[in-house]
Amino acid sequence: MNLFSITLTFISTISFSFHVILGQQPYIGAATSACDEKGNSNSILGYTCSEVNPSCQAYLTFRAQPLYNSVPSISKLLDSDPSNISEANSVSEEATFETNKLVIVPINCSCSGDQYYQFNTSFVVEKGDNYFGIANNTFEGLSTCQALLDQNKIPAVDLDVGTKLVVPLRCACPSKNQTEEGVRYLISYLVKPGDDVSQVSEIFGVTIETILEANSLSFQQPTINPFTTLLVPLQDKPSSSQTVEPPLPPPPPPPTPPPSSNGSSSKTWVYIVVGVVGAFVIILLICSIIFRSHYLKKKRKDSEAVSDNFAAKEKAQGKELEDESRELLEIISGIAQSFKVYSFEELQNATNNFSPKSLIEGSVYHGVINGDLAAIKKIDGGDVSKEMELLNKVNHSNVIRLSGVSFKDGHWYLVYEYAANGALSDWIYFHNKDENKSLSWTQRIQIALDVATGLDYLHSFISPPYIHKDLKCSNILLDIDFRAKIANFGLARLLELENDQNAMTRHIVGTRGYMAPEYLENGLVSTKLDVYAFGVMMLEILTGKEVAALYEENDFNLSSVLQGEDERLRDFMDSSLQGNYPLELAIFVGGIIDDCMKKDPTTRPSMNEIVTSLSKVFDSSLS
Ligand SMILES: *[C@@H]1O[C@H](CO)[C@@H](O)[C@H](O)[C@H]1NC(C)=O
Ligand SMILES: *[C@@H]1O[C@H](CO)[C@@H](O)[C@H](O)[C@H]1NC(C)=O
Ligand SMILES: *[C@@H]1O[C@H](CO)[C@@H](O)[C@H](O)[C@H]1NC(C)=O
Ligand SMILES: *[C@@H]1O[C@H](CO)[C@@H](O)[C@H](O)[C@H]1NC(C)=O
Ligand SMILES: *[C@@H]1O[C@H](CO)[C@@H](O)[C@H](O)[C@H]1NC(C)=O
Repeated sequence: MNLFSITLTFISTISFSFHVILGQQPYIGAATSACDEKGNSNSILGYTCSEVNPSCQAYLTFRAQPLYNSVPSISKLLDSDPSNISEANSVSEEATFETNKLVIVPINCSCSGDQYYQFNTSFVVEKGDNYFGIANNTFEGLSTCQALLDQNKIPAVDLDVGTKLVVPLRCACPSKNQTEEGVRYLISYLVKPGDDVSQVSEIFGVTIETILEANSLSFQQPTINPFTTLLVPLQDKPSSSQTVEPPLPPPPPPPTPPPSSNGSSSKTWVYIVVGVVGAFVIILLICSIIFRSHYLKKKRKDSEAVSDNFAAKEKAQGKELEDESRELLEIISGIAQSFKVYSFEELQNATNNFSPKSLIEGSVYHGVINGDLAAIKKIDGGDVSKEMELLNKVNHSNVIRLSGVSFKDGHWYLVYEYAANGALSDWIYFHNKDENKSLSWTQRIQIALDVATGLDYLHSFISPPYIHKDLKCSNILLDIDFRAKIANFGLARLLELENDQNAMTRHIVGTRGYMAPEYLENGLVSTKLDVYAFGVMMLEILTGKEVAALYEENDFNLSSVLQGEDERLRDFMDSSLQGNYPLELAIFVGGIIDDCMKKDPTTRPSMNEIVTSLSKVFDSSLS
């Protein structure tokens, strides 16, 4: 993707918009959800067969989701050969994908009864399934409820558990015109929330107008809906490098109003710049880290060196490498929009030469840089590239902002926005608390909602999804207005490194009491790990007690208290609230906590659902 081709795309979009567009396959629009009435698109049953190609090699896409997140499970669901899926995505035949990863699925698309292109797979109805759920939730929009009904002729009410359905999946072959233009394949791209046509065109490296034409979309205001298919015409086979999607803009954190947005073309620019800069920064960081470890290794060898002369030479070389790291950092500073490279001297000035007075705790200092308060974390070892890589692509008000970096004598220094009210743990736990430190019910709910919003963003809006793994009250920071920010992203990974020496605890990172059972038992990692920890955190926010203490002090059935079946919920709540909270809302929140802490990870809600529930609680708490 280069700026030149974008410019070209832009110019050609303008010039093409004066042509009369003769559509190929009408875009399905919002019709997927129209189960009862006849849909508003004539492609609801499938894409119409073309005059030239009765069958062809085509591609579907599928976003990995918990039940279908591996080559074997997706292969079974979509009836595509595992070897074909593994080849198309450059992974092994046993590979597992991260949630929401876009997976390319090669299929043989053909014309059924001279009417619609389709590719058949089968599906056995399970408890709770209906046509819409099967089409939209399981197949993510690759089929529609009307097409299912049309194909199977089984009325919706007679859809019994165990019924085997033919599921027609939406694929298409190039039309005559497309073939003449060199199009060889059509991929059925699954639109996700936040997508627009220009983004999709960038993913596959094709022009916007070929997509608009292929889907008979208007050039003026092409609207596309999540969980629908958009045909993308391709000249070459799609490759796994294309399914790494650009990061999405952060959703506005409720309840602050969203920032005003610009036109979509300027947004596109931002994605490109962020994407290109991000990739570049990461490569540079990795280089500099390699340099550094190389340098350290040499230095260690040095101490054993026999000749002073030789050591001195090596030292000079070390200095060179150090300079090189600095140079690399300087290059980063030239292009990185999201953070700045500071000289070590700037940080020394900011923190009174890292005086104990400036120490917040551990190896975190506060300081004033260019008139702004900042928190500066000194990191002695380990891999900071992960944290930098993540925070470079994240821009969300509920995730702590990395504003700069520095490097000196083998240490990294990360500069963060300053959170004036410190860690949430200082406000929650009894033993940390002085009299004045107490949060109201509404503040507590807002903090929980902020954390949930930040986690939802990390889980669903960045690619690949990020799992924090060590969520707890001390890793949540509060700003001057008591708005919460998730922090400490490096920790889990640093611990992982340390634990490598100790095979017994190799994959157990994080904090006791916060860790989900499936993780403790099998080291299973999913976003539901954070959901569990979030539940524990909310429990602490409501009770004012650390979870370990809670378990020690009480031998009751936590579930029954949380679900409000037990009279004891009132005794359970933080006494510093002094009863100032709506009991029915507390019971509702208790229910959310109980759901988050379910033993079976698949039954825990997603962060997105939690955000919805907590927003309601927050709104009701205000009124
Ligand atoms: C194919 O292109 C020709 C001219 O380029 C146009 O007249 C015709 O309508 C197009 N057909 C379709 C189906 O778009
Ligand atoms: C799947 O792979 C086999 C063997 O490589 C190939 O012959 C076949 O055409 C592929 N099918 C699809 C649908 O890509
Ligand atoms: C695809 O299916 C069509 C018709 O069902 C068949 O003629 C064709 O050989 C198949 N192609 C491949 C590569 O399997
Ligand atoms: C899909 O299955 C239906 C039967 O339900 C059959 O009529 C149709 O030909 C099949 N289509 C393809 C492309 O295999
Ligand atoms: C459609 O399915 C997606 C998951 O694939 C889900 O998030 C969404 O809420 C569903 N839409 C409706 C209207 O239920």
